[in-house]
Amino acid sequence: LASIEVDISGVAEGSAITVEWRGKPVFIRHRTAAEIEEAEAVPLDDLPDPQADSARVKEGEAQWLVLVGVCTHLGCIPLGYAGDYHGWFCPCHGSHYDTSGRIRRGPAPANLVVPEYEFISDDRIKIG
Ligand code: FES
Repeated sequence: LASIEVDISGVAEGSAITVEWRGKPVFIRHRTAAEIEEAEAVPLDDLPDPQADSARVKEGEAQWLVLVGVCTHLGCIPLGYAGDYHGWFCPCHGSHYDTSGRIRRGPAPANLVVPEYEFISDDRIKIG
């Protein structure tokens, strides 16, 4: 399918789900206030692939982070709520991503990709 709709009403704050889109895993994470603060507090200079957290979420919906769940190094699937930056950890070669899905340490050259998506209601998103 080119695009999918996902009901996110059951995704509690502090948890995440994985859905499949175009043959790839997509992580949908309901971030806590602390996770958002942590992501927003990082100076861009500290980032290998500098991108503000606000550029990776929808305006007014910073609690929702949507990412293609494919490590930008060699394509493994990172583990959530793991790694030194409380985001994702890729066990294949040790890439650490933060609570915005940005690469912080390890061989991955770029942040986890934010797919094209939109809110079609308060608790439904359309990916693709
Ligand atoms: Fe993720 Fe190499 S594929 S660190």
